[in-house]
Amino acid sequence: MIKLDTVNLEIDGPTATIYLNRPDKKNAMNPQMHRDMNQVLDEIEAAETVKAVVVTGNGDSFSAGMDLEECFLKPFDDPQLFYRTNLVALNWFKRLKAFPAVTIAKVNGFAFGGGVLVTGICDLAVASETALFGLSEINFGIFPAGGATWAATHNLPRKQALYYILTGDTLTGRQAQEYGLVNRAVPADQLDAETDRIVRKIVNKNPVTLELAKQVYERTTTMDLPTAIDYDQAKLWELSRLSGNEWINVALKQFEKRSYQPGLSTYRKAEAAS
Ligand code: COA
Repeated sequence: MIKLDTVNLEIDGPTATIYLNRPDKKNAMNPQMHRDMNQVLDEIEAAETVKAVVVTGNGDSFSAGMDLEECFLKPFDDPQLFYRTNLVALNWFKRLKAFPAVTIAKVNGFAFGGGVLVTGICDLAVASETALFGLSEINFGIFPAGGATWAATHNLPRKQALYYILTGDTLTGRQAQEYGLVNRAVPADQLDAETDRIVRKIVNKNPVTLELAKQVYERTTTMDLPTAIDYDQAKLWELSRLSGNEWINVALKQFEKRSYQPGLSTYRKAEAAS
């Protein structure tokens, strides 16, 4: 376990877990937490083993969002300081969105503003049914920024996104599942088990395939079909090269021997040598 001032990081083989750790402040993200988040992302990248990154909060909150006092109120009169303070935050939000490993938000409680943002930019998300989400920015006079509106528009249907942006109302984990902000909402005592279940599915996949699958998803969302096909074909050749053609040499060889059904389960990497 790596313990920074406001964030803890645990790397266990292919799985990294980031714990936001300001429970007394509902894991509000202060400038130190933004610096710590950049550092733990560095650590995870340097480990080179990680396929799944879980982000969660210590205590009863996922994150109450940006620290309204330390990030906004205090530096506001010094424009340079204000800019630099928030740049560090915007930097790790962008990094997390483009992170090579699969990112999973494990939302254990309050998730306001930046908490919704982090949930939305992670690839996958699991929440406690009683977790409470909110785009509360309108309640203190601004609109969701720093990517929070993006997170709403890319994870919620239009009417729901606008409703929560414009009213600042909260939604529960159960509603977040209904609208698609999280993959699943489960009773609080099942949150760890449900997250582990998803992590286990991810970590037995080829890491190059996971990374390129994410790239193909993200890039093709803005392409027309012919362009998307050209792009994914080029990526498939890249995948073949980078993975030593594992999909042909291992996965489809096992299928040829009828040793598994790809529709229902994954090939076994261990058979590569046989
Ligand atoms: N920024 C700074 N401090 C925050 C914070 C934030 N976003 N969210 C919570 N805190 C602090 C509180 O000020 C309080 O500090 P104190 O003990 O020094 O007084 C501490 O965390 C505990 O919060 P409290 O309000 O007492 O807990 P609660 O369980 O009654 O309510 C919330 C929790 C999250 C509903 C409430 O704290 C809140 O509305 N926070 C702001 C959420 C928000 O608008 N976030 C958007 C940021 S973009």
